Amino acid sequence: MIYARITGTGSYLPPTTLSNIDLMARGIDTTDEWIVERTGIRSRHIADAGQQASDLALAASLKAVEAADIPAEKIDLIILATSTPDYVFPSTACLLQAKLGVSGAAAFDVQAVCSGFAYALAVAEKFIRSGSHQCALVVGAEVFSRILDWNDRGTCVLFGDGAGAVILEASNEPGVLASVLHADGSHHRILEVPGNVSGGKVVGQPFVKMDGPAVFKFAVKVLAEVAQEVLNQAGMDTGAIDWLIPHQANIRIIQSTAKKLGLPMDKVVTTVEQHGNTSAASIPLALDSAVRSGRIKRGEVLMLEGVGGGFTWGAVLLKF
Ligand code: UT7
Repeated sequence: MIYARITGTGSYLPPTTLSNIDLMARGIDTTDEWIVERTGIRSRHIADAGQQASDLALAASLKAVEAADIPAEKIDLIILATSTPDYVFPSTACLLQAKLGVSGAAAFDVQAVCSGFAYALAVAEKFIRSGSHQCALVVGAEVFSRILDWNDRGTCVLFGDGAGAVILEASNEPGVLASVLHADGSHHRILEVPGNVSGGKVVGQPFVKMDGPAVFKFAVKVLAEVAQEVLNQAGMDTGAIDWLIPHQANIRIIQSTAKKLGLPMDKVVTTVEQHGNTSAASIPLALDSAVRSGRIKRGEVLMLEGVGGGFTWGAVLLKF
């Protein structure tokens, strides 16, 4: 039996931070109290003007490669989740591949917004389990600050930039135990960037538009459902989970999901306070921070789950 196992993690946050107080100083009509109480966010990282998603992805990937103790040449599959790609094309995965200085591996992007990393990891696992590939680099990288309307206080206070990466290798030991992915495109209006490039111009709106309360309700519902579904698929129950690593959108969504699952918050990795919502990067960023701080240990059972625009949602249950 071929399993797919995470053998290394890495992450990168751009050095510039923007606190809630900094946002107020920029003239945004908000307060630190409102943001902390409604979202749990205190600060977020913002990429410098010269940094693209592929640059953040490169820094995170190099750390994951080092942690896995493999030569970058061993990677035969690169899957990168982003909604803020460097270009319309080529894919940010191909640009990352060039920056890594390797060639030949299959490389493509996955677009599932905040569920992107769960999607990318589930896809990579299927490639490895099929026997077609042996060593995948799976990345979530975002520069969401580029698609924020800084006059819309309902969205601009929520997001941040960053990247996280894992190396997923073929192994005789588990590994990914189960994964579940879902989408319902009929809800695309509640979270979208409804613009595109046409005839040399941006047509539509190049900024995040969100119906916050509708997204909140949807997220709380599907995160609990998909967690149960992936546990059922693996024939396990919540008692088996050592760590829940949810998408980091809002501490209240995370608390509600943990409560529905009957998990105490000390089994939940949270980074939303310092990172904000980094979309596809939030799960691998949280994973790497908990691995590097020594909280997550080899052999523990992790539940990764995401929800985002599309609407998309998914969960991956794995033995680390
Ligand atoms: O990755 C998935 C992407 N997004 C999410 O998961 C976000 C999900 N949604 C949420 O996290 C929450 O809905 C928000 C944090 C976005 C909003 O919290 P809420 O408790 O649902 O607030 P609301 O949108 O119902 O707005 C309540 C009030 C409104 O004022 P009035 O109409 O009651 O006078 C807003 O205008 O809060 C006001 N408000 C703000 N006030 C200060 C909205 N944004 C802000 C702000 N600062 N930044």
